[in-house]
Amino acid sequence: MPLDREPDFGTPARTSVTTVTLTIDGASVTVPAGTSVMAAAMHAGTQIPKLCATDMVEAFGSCRLCLVEIEGRRGTPASCTTPAENGMVVRTQTPRLSTLRRGVMELYISDHPLDCLTCSANGDCELQDMAGVVGLRDVRYGQDGEKHRTVAKDESNPYFTFDSSKCIVCSRCVRACEEVQGTFALTIDARGLASKVSTGTADFLTSECVSCGACVQACPTATLNEKTVIEMGTPTKATVTTCAYCGVGCSFRAETQGDQVIRMVPDKAGKANEGHSCVKGRFAWGYATHKDRITKPMIRAKITDPWREVSWEEAFAYAASEFKRIQAQYGRDSIGGITSSRCTNEETFLVQKLIRAGFGNNNVDTCARVCHSPTGYGLKTTFGTSAGTQDFRSVEKADVVLVIGANPTDGHPVFGSRLKKRLRQGAKLIVADPRRIDLVRTPHVEASYHLPVMPGTNVALLNALAHVIVTEGLVKEDYVRERCDWQDFEVWARFIAQDINSPEATEAKTGVPAADVRAAARLYATGGNGAIFYGLGVTEHSQGSTTVMAMANLAMATGNIGRDGVGVNPLRGQNNVQGSCDMGSFPHEFSGYRHVSDDATREMFENLWGVELSAEPGLRIPNMLDEAVGGRFKGLYIQGEDIAQSDPNTKHVTSGLRNMECVIIQDLFLNETAKYAHVFFPGSSFLEKDGTFTNAERRISRVRKVTPSLSGLADWEITLRFAEALGYEMTYDHPSQIMDEIAHLTPTFTGVSYARLDELGSIQWPCNQSAPEGTPIMHVDRFVRGKGKFMVTEYVPTDEKTGPRFPLLLTTGRILSQYNVGVQTSRSHNNVWHSEDRLEIHPFDAEERGIRDGDLVALQSRSGDVSLRALITDRVQPGVVYTTFHHAKSGVNVITTDYSDWATNCPEYKVTAVQVQRTNRYSDWQNEDRENADLLRMIEGSMSHAAE
Ligand code: SF4
Ligand code: SF4
Ligand code: SF4
Ligand code: FES
Repeated sequence: MPLDREPDFGTPARTSVTTVTLTIDGASVTVPAGTSVMAAAMHAGTQIPKLCATDMVEAFGSCRLCLVEIEGRRGTPASCTTPAENGMVVRTQTPRLSTLRRGVMELYISDHPLDCLTCSANGDCELQDMAGVVGLRDVRYGQDGEKHRTVAKDESNPYFTFDSSKCIVCSRCVRACEEVQGTFALTIDARGLASKVSTGTADFLTSECVSCGACVQACPTATLNEKTVIEMGTPTKATVTTCAYCGVGCSFRAETQGDQVIRMVPDKAGKANEGHSCVKGRFAWGYATHKDRITKPMIRAKITDPWREVSWEEAFAYAASEFKRIQAQYGRDSIGGITSSRCTNEETFLVQKLIRAGFGNNNVDTCARVCHSPTGYGLKTTFGTSAGTQDFRSVEKADVVLVIGANPTDGHPVFGSRLKKRLRQGAKLIVADPRRIDLVRTPHVEASYHLPVMPGTNVALLNALAHVIVTEGLVKEDYVRERCDWQDFEVWARFIAQDINSPEATEAKTGVPAADVRAAARLYATGGNGAIFYGLGVTEHSQGSTTVMAMANLAMATGNIGRDGVGVNPLRGQNNVQGSCDMGSFPHEFSGYRHVSDDATREMFENLWGVELSAEPGLRIPNMLDEAVGGRFKGLYIQGEDIAQSDPNTKHVTSGLRNMECVIIQDLFLNETAKYAHVFFPGSSFLEKDGTFTNAERRISRVRKVTPSLSGLADWEITLRFAEALGYEMTYDHPSQIMDEIAHLTPTFTGVSYARLDELGSIQWPCNQSAPEGTPIMHVDRFVRGKGKFMVTEYVPTDEKTGPRFPLLLTTGRILSQYNVGVQTSRSHNNVWHSEDRLEIHPFDAEERGIRDGDLVALQSRSGDVSLRALITDRVQPGVVYTTFHHAKSGVNVITTDYSDWATNCPEYKVTAVQVQRTNRYSDWQNEDRENADLLRMIEGSMSHAAE
């Protein structure tokens, strides 16, 4: 049996507190003002036939199937476009309406191919359903859709097909693309029977389409349909789970047939995404069953040996004996571990528990070290908590949005769509970014100001914005006096008012015209609710933590913290960056950001875990690698991270790894780091386990097991079994019990449990006695730390300088179709949009070097060199080059430096002085890497032969 669809109320929900009461088919119903008669009827349990309406988009009123009778009104109005009113008396089922609806349906069906039995949407087609609902039995003008039958299907998109012979021109797809996604890729061409949906280009692939899938979801027929459904049939079961890509944390219905995922459909009830998705979560899940998945544990004594497949028992026993040997030989602190922001909260919590309690040291760190650790430091120092202040929905109340160092339409696309919607409604936008990101100018959206800040000068720019606010009297003094530490404010205000911080004085450093800085500052301070959203373009700098504090200063000075529509919000990169930090993955903190030296906290953990814990902070990732290079750190357990590819200065990373005697990798694939590993624990994908992820809004959402684990164990079970082999027993039968322990030990999670998550859908921490349903917006009446703390944010230029040898600045970022180091997305059809990383270079810089578009160019820094193909574009400014880092063969981190944030060691990925010149060869590193890749393929080949 095909799956029941999610209920569709026909028109979007209204949230007005005013209500209206009307009568529908004799029943009284009360709904928020602005609700359509169609949606009101749905609330009363009456479904009115419809075709062009869906609650994804505003009503359009074109199909005329949803006609109703309303007492005192002439004719038969469309219920989807008629707002419910107090006292209205509506009839939805009368002989006259039935006749009219049948007539409408007859016209639709007369122009539709009657091949329902063999249609891919058979049983999952609204047109078919409606024909049944209105009782259509005969079609007098039977043309069987012959007018459109000869039109070729558009199969250009790798994930869905457009078969216009089945199109009823309801325009739901066009409206979904406009209203939900904000891309405006579709239009209706021509009129009458000739009218058709068009991309305005040859096909979907060559159009503006970003493959978000909103049109496919909106389509009531088989016209736009997932290829997996066409190939495998309609799904029979749905399991609600959470996307494992970015920090937006979209909720999905994983729809399956048996153990086979058929499609991922964004969940309308998901509070982070409200039924929307991007190409990654919606379509790029095939990696979970990709042939490259390693599903058997493997060990080897030396990294030059071939891998040997072994049983789980042997792998655990070998790994444990090696770690015990190393500790006996080199001391307790010679081993450590890295948790993963890709794994669940429960899995992350277990790894840090194993390290603190089982290894007996605090040598635990997480990949958040290399992305958002400055967020934790900066927001905790100023506001008192290491997390963003708002929920995503809050942006709907923002009047001015400052996006700095983030590219939401590529990096956080579902939030990007939400933001664009608000901007189309009239909110103003300021973009501070070295590169002209899409938001600067996209259909129906244009930034009021683009501040093209030079990489490395964010602090100078933010100080200049604050200077204008302070010196032009734009500070919200009442707010600051009431909510913030006034003495700190006065110190900061005196500092920021100095001439060195003025837009005019900083212009030469930042590259941003002083007049634009002044105008942008005035807009942010006086334009109503001001919201700041930022990304790694803020944090991955030597002054990352200072920049976060500078944004916090700006928000406090203008009173933009503590209500809807405002705030300082990190757009987190990975799905569970927030969670991995919350769970105590940093070497100095237990879960809930409590220092390991705090006796009372430590005692609580010791009592429950039954061991004495170290009060000394452990090693951070870069320190572990330094110690390894120095010969003192010998064993590393890495859960779901590829430090050889994602961490800066690859040569240093690999030197450290080579010096270790036992590196354990727990992952889906033999990643780059696995080249230096001795033990491989095959991990499980998000589809294969239970748990929770926490997104950028602090929203904890359930991850639910959809398919069996290919390796036989979920990641949390692997950690348990490894701990057991080491002699540190942890007993849990289900991840819900791990969450219960987290809740017991972590004040901000006290009210969180799987039962509560099932009840509420998702929960934003803090969730405890004072906030039993969670906390969408933080610091409402007071800051978590009491008074908001202004911090002096002196601009200190990075040590990474341009000069004659390295005259350009390299900065990096992501694109929509690929994800981070490409482990998952490069194993999907997303490669059709981005099959290699290119170096964006301004036409002036290219011309100066004789570089033509597509040329192979050598990119050299003080750390190393790689070769990439050039993409000449004025999206980047002269003096700045830009690339993505999604493909291992690009090895861009080979050339990034060792500089890092002063407070947190977050690497300065976003600023590297480079030279670019034409070349005809790949760098030695890349050639060596290709040899390694060949070797790897040979080993994998020999293993698969052995398995046959
Ligand atoms: S997939 Fe998304 S972007 Fe592409 S046409 Fe459909 S709605 Fe528009
Ligand atoms: S493609 Fe689907 S949603 Fe779009 S107009 Fe045709 S039937 Fe309607
Ligand atoms: S926006 Fe992020 S969480 Fe949502 S579907 Fe895309 S990748 Fe997944
Ligand atoms: S559903 Fe109301 S006019 Fe089409």
